Amino acid sequence: MGKILYFLPLAFICSYAGPLELTITERILNGLNATIEQFSYMVSIQRVSDISNPGHGHTCGGVLITQRHVLTAASCTYRIDYANNKQVIHYNESDFIVFAGSAFLNETSSDRIRSIENYTRHPEHLIEPSRANDLAIITLVSPFPERVVKPLALPPSDYTPRDSTVCTIAGWGAQTNLSSIPSVQLQYINNYILNQNSCISLFNNFDQVEKILPSMVCTNVSDNNTKGCKGDQGNALVCGGILTGISFLPNDCMSENSSRPELYTRVSNYTRWIQTVTDSAPNIKPRFYALLILTVFHAFFQKVVS
Ligand SMILES: *[C@@H]1O[C@H](CO)[C@@H](O)[C@H](O)[C@H]1NC(C)=O
Ligand SMILES: *[C@@H]1O[C@H](CO)[C@@H](O)[C@H](O)[C@H]1NC(C)=O
Ligand SMILES: *[C@@H]1O[C@H](CO)[C@@H](O)[C@H](O)[C@H]1NC(C)=O
Ligand SMILES: *[C@@H]1O[C@H](CO)[C@@H](O)[C@H](O)[C@H]1NC(C)=O
Ligand SMILES: *[C@@H]1O[C@H](CO)[C@@H](O)[C@H](O)[C@H]1NC(C)=O
Ligand SMILES: *[C@@H]1O[C@H](CO)[C@@H](O)[C@H](O)[C@H]1NC(C)=O
Ligand SMILES: *[C@@H]1O[C@H](CO)[C@@H](O)[C@H](O)[C@H]1NC(C)=O
Ligand SMILES: *[C@@H]1O[C@H](CO)[C@@H](O)[C@H](O)[C@H]1NC(C)=O
Ligand SMILES: *[C@@H]1O[C@H](CO)[C@@H](O)[C@H](O)[C@H]1NC(C)=O
Repeated sequence: MGKILYFLPLAFICSYAGPLELTITERILNGLNATIEQFSYMVSIQRVSDISNPGHGHTCGGVLITQRHVLTAASCTYRIDYANNKQVIHYNESDFIVFAGSAFLNETSSDRIRSIENYTRHPEHLIEPSRANDLAIITLVSPFPERVVKPLALPPSDYTPRDSTVCTIAGWGAQTNLSSIPSVQLQYINNYILNQNSCISLFNNFDQVEKILPSMVCTNVSDNNTKGCKGDQGNALVCGGILTGISFLPNDCMSENSSRPELYTRVSNYTRWIQTVTDSAPNIKPRFYALLILTVFHAFFQKVVS
């Protein structure tokens, strides 16, 4: 019996498919140019095999919550193999890098790129149609330098934004709905917190199978048809400087009537879990220290020799 219970969630996870094999076609639409000063916590998660063409490796956004940890959507860390029984395939850490510290994806100096140590997915994450607990923490091999990025603090556990609060969301995206190339420059849009019950009824009009949970927060997208799109998963919804949501179900820019609400995982519900993960690791890996000692030793040795 214990065994069956153990395998049930796995079976559930594996039995659903999601649009998780991201293409580079659909991103924040009708946004405004952003500067890095406005969004110094913003990261781009990039597929190593695609980054030779600057920016094209971008698959998801994310937000730095320490110099060494990124909060993103769990659904940015795996794909579903539809052809093979909808099997969940977790991404290999070494296939992705994290870019931060510039609004321009083409500014690829070494202090703006970090390798991924590991992913910590929320243990109760369910893939679609539930999409519950769609959060993951990326631990980087080494921290970003403080002069390059500025992490965003976690919200208090009891933080609840008021209806109609103005929030911003930034992302690297195509600036027209027909472009298939991500924006080199970070874009941002304003959104408004939507009343939870309005969200539920609005959302249901769109014939969506997902269920709005209290641990999700919605914004409306009525202004000038600005909206996030498929590749905007993982982007941070920030309201009055407070980290409020992580995008997990962005609109499809290509559909004409996507005035359905934008959906985010409500970060305040997970503040404690996130802290247990980010506090569990020393802020700098032993590997990093080893490298530092080696570098110092090397420099010293060279001096002695010369
Ligand atoms: C954003 O910047 C680009 C390139 O610098 C410029 O062509 C465009 O007009 C700007 N867009 C807005 C909305 O300011
Ligand atoms: C991830 O990729 C690296 C390098 O290609 C490989 O050595 C490693 O075994 C892979 N890990 C998994 C879990 O597939
Ligand atoms: C990056 O792209 C922007 C906008 O296209 C351009 O102004 C800038 O010079 C580029 N930077 C580098 C380092 O290529
Ligand atoms: C979206 O929110 C804004 C600000 O509260 C409001 O003016 C607008 O009517 C709302 N639109 C919808 C579709 O609810
Ligand atoms: C999540 O937060 C919302 C709003 O603060 C609250 O109503 C809800 O009970 C919380 N859910 C959980 C599971 O903590
Ligand atoms: C929407 O577009 C109109 C006309 O272009 C503009 O005046 C208005 O400021 C825009 N609203 C927002 C919130 O961007
Ligand atoms: C997408 O772009 C085309 C061409 O500019 C336009 O005709 C169409 O209305 C746009 N659709 C949306 C949803 O903006
Ligand atoms: C968009 O909505 C309008 C009004 O509800 C409707 O007439 C139109 O057919 C819709 N377009 C699409 C592509 O669903
Ligand atoms: C993965 O990341 C967590 C959180 O930072 C850390 O506690 C753990 O030691 C890491 N695991 C490995 C195998 O590096």
